[in-house]
Amino acid sequence: MDSAESAGGRLGAVLALPRTGLASLGPHGPWVATTPALARRVLTEPGTFDFPGDVSRSGDLSASRGDTRSGHLGFAALGADAVARGTARFTSEWDAACADHERSAPGTPYDAMALLRAPVGRATCAAVLPEASEAQQRAVADRVLAWIDALGPVIAARRPPARWSRTRRTEQRARHALEDTLREVPGLDGTPQQVATMLAAGIQVPIAAGAWLLAWLADHPTGRVDPVHAAWETVRLTPPTWVTARQAARDCDLDGQHVPAGGLVMVSPLLLGRRPDLVPGEPDDLARFAPERWDDPTRRPGAWLPFGAGPHACPGRNLGLAMLVALASWGVRHDLRLVEPVRIDQSRGIAPLPCRIEVATTEVTT
Ligand code: HEM
Repeated sequence: MDSAESAGGRLGAVLALPRTGLASLGPHGPWVATTPALARRVLTEPGTFDFPGDVSRSGDLSASRGDTRSGHLGFAALGADAVARGTARFTSEWDAACADHERSAPGTPYDAMALLRAPVGRATCAAVLPEASEAQQRAVADRVLAWIDALGPVIAARRPPARWSRTRRTEQRARHALEDTLREVPGLDGTPQQVATMLAAGIQVPIAAGAWLLAWLADHPTGRVDPVHAAWETVRLTPPTWVTARQAARDCDLDGQHVPAGGLVMVSPLLLGRRPDLVPGEPDDLARFAPERWDDPTRRPGAWLPFGAGPHACPGRNLGLAMLVALASWGVRHDLRLVEPVRIDQSRGIAPLPCRIEVATTEVTT
């Protein structure tokens, strides 16, 4: 498996920075908050570090148009009922997807990024759209996936595509089709635009996280693995939203350095997740997938902010984690093997591509 440590691009540049405070990627920024205290400050002081996002151009979909300056209140965290509904749907849909694969292409590798699409899509729709019929939830999930696909080239483009470009028109068509379908759904919690953003973030990111989880399990020497610890190790080593940014709303001082108004300050859960003060284990062993490091009950996972913090923290974190735990519970009962090396795709957050896995049909007992 490719390691983030040897990755090039933005990921490699951020990981190569010194981790002692505010680091800079260039003479005039952007800056990276490399300590937990600085990262928290950047994420939790929206008056100073504002949310710059626009869902159509962010590095991934975990970004709303929510503007804390203009009074946008953000997304309410999913409640326990929604999480339970989504997790139950994920489990049944994942089992169905695996059974379908075994029927239609027995013995062939599972393409994790492809196979996770429908289960994650339908699970998130079941959680977020409680009053929709199951048929409506499926239809919405299909439309969200189509929008996510159409957004790919917009996000990957070096410059924002012009409004009349084919790329942008395709994306707009997919977004409008999704919003039209959402208008038919009873009891929507927010405008169709807001719900569309929630769903896209809640589907694209967990698909990548789930594929990373399966890749890590397949790459891991067999042995007892706790599904909860495997889920945390996945969002530590390869959080799909590996970096997020805020924009200085005015000139400010951060860690003794001057950041001018408009300057970008980034926070990387992936970088923070490799700090020895936040993660148990030997400092030179923190890039290894080792779920057992969390066996120590005095060490609590999550201090590296895999779900963000502050007003734009992830409202779907409990569902995201629960889906990963359900998937890990399936994974540890099977014999998984990578059929080819996994590469880190950086075009939208980070995703494992290809991520093809051989699954032994007999369940192994743990
Ligand atoms: C393992 C799965 C997930 C991970 C690792 C994850 C990670 C994140 C992170 C790091 C952020 C903060 C981004 C920032 O500060 O700029 C975020 C935001 C967000 N997430 Fe998640 N997420 C996951 C699952 C979900 C799910 C299941 C949903 C919805 C059902 C969801 C909906 C959102 C939304 C709407 C935002 C934007 C919040 C805002 O801008 O106010 N996420 N997520």
